[in-house]
Amino acid sequence: MKAAVLDHVGVPPHFGDFAEPEPGEGQVVVNVAAAGVNHLDLAKASGSFYTGPPPIPSVVGSDGVGRTAHGRRVYFDAPVAPYGSWAQQTLVSDTDLLDVAAGVDDATAAALGNTGLTAWLALSWRARLQPGESVLVLGATGAVGSVAVQAAKSLGAAHVIAAARNPDRLRWARQHGADATVVLSPGTDLPSAFRQAAGDHGIDVIIDPLWGEPALAAMQAVAPGARHIQIGASSAPTIDLPAAVIRAADLEILSFVVFRAPLQERRDAYRNLTERAALGEIAVDVIRLPLAEVASAWEQERRGAHARLILTP
Ligand SMILES: NC(=O)c1ccc[n+]([C@@H]2O[C@H](COP(=O)([O-])OP(=O)(O)OC[C@H]3O[C@@H](n4cnc5c(N)ncnc54)[C@H](OP(=O)(O)O)[C@@H]3O)[C@@H](O)[C@H]2O)c1
Repeated sequence: MKAAVLDHVGVPPHFGDFAEPEPGEGQVVVNVAAAGVNHLDLAKASGSFYTGPPPIPSVVGSDGVGRTAHGRRVYFDAPVAPYGSWAQQTLVSDTDLLDVAAGVDDATAAALGNTGLTAWLALSWRARLQPGESVLVLGATGAVGSVAVQAAKSLGAAHVIAAARNPDRLRWARQHGADATVVLSPGTDLPSAFRQAAGDHGIDVIIDPLWGEPALAAMQAVAPGARHIQIGASSAPTIDLPAAVIRAADLEILSFVVFRAPLQERRDAYRNLTERAALGEIAVDVIRLPLAEVASAWEQERRGAHARLILTP
């Protein structure tokens, strides 16, 4: 079969041939229709992800949508090594298959995988968002952030603030449910800007794929008892966090890792996401590329694509 084959850790994969998977006990072969290109995939293939380096040779790609031999359309995000999702076929444990709602195309369904589950579960499972609460989404122009803005509204948030560097791209967030926006520009008093954008609603939940200065500023602007959900570090890997900031707001700082969410939570979240996408309530920007263009997909994701790249084997 054709696949994105990784021959050396730290060197981008190449489009080539790889042995077709043979299912063992409890395993299913999935014919891949659409595979997500995530930061996670680049980090894993580069050997910088905290789970350690992948086997060599192996197929890159952690998630995607496809069909089993019986025609069931599924989302998967735990291919059995050395198989991955950037291939015509992959191998998955039959307990790890999530059903996709009807009415949503394969590429959109794949784009709602790692990205959508992260946004939805960060709000529903980790932050325990309650209807009527207020949410600040940092990095709201990114793949995770743009779904988080829409998911927060879907989950009943009364007020959603979208914050990011690019004012043009923040307009998209405004058109997709954000009630207020904050431009993360140098020299801005961000805690004041966040408080002003929150108004009387305050800020109950921070969705944080950035860390760095915007995260610290957000923590300084929240309502008492707020939850800060730490997802990624696109802005900076460290911050200088005064203890008083945590105590002043009785702040909960919670880590989020999408594959640590319980299976039933993930099933429910993915069903909700794909049903809402089918209804047009949740939209994702998708760029489709044929599998043969894996080198281009890799480079676009490395540079920050601002849309979910999807390989279509
Ligand atoms: N924990 C998990 O389970 C999990 C799951 C998925 C993703 N993640 C992580 O979440 C993060 C975001 O992922 P993504 O797929 O949404 O990425 P993305 O589509 O590339 O978006 C990145 C976002 O970060 C912003 N950004 C980048 N550098 C910045 C900086 N120096 N200062 C301020 N903003 C900056 C971008 O804003 P501009 O528009 O201004 O460039 C954009 O809004 C990544 O670190 C990823 O690894 C974690």
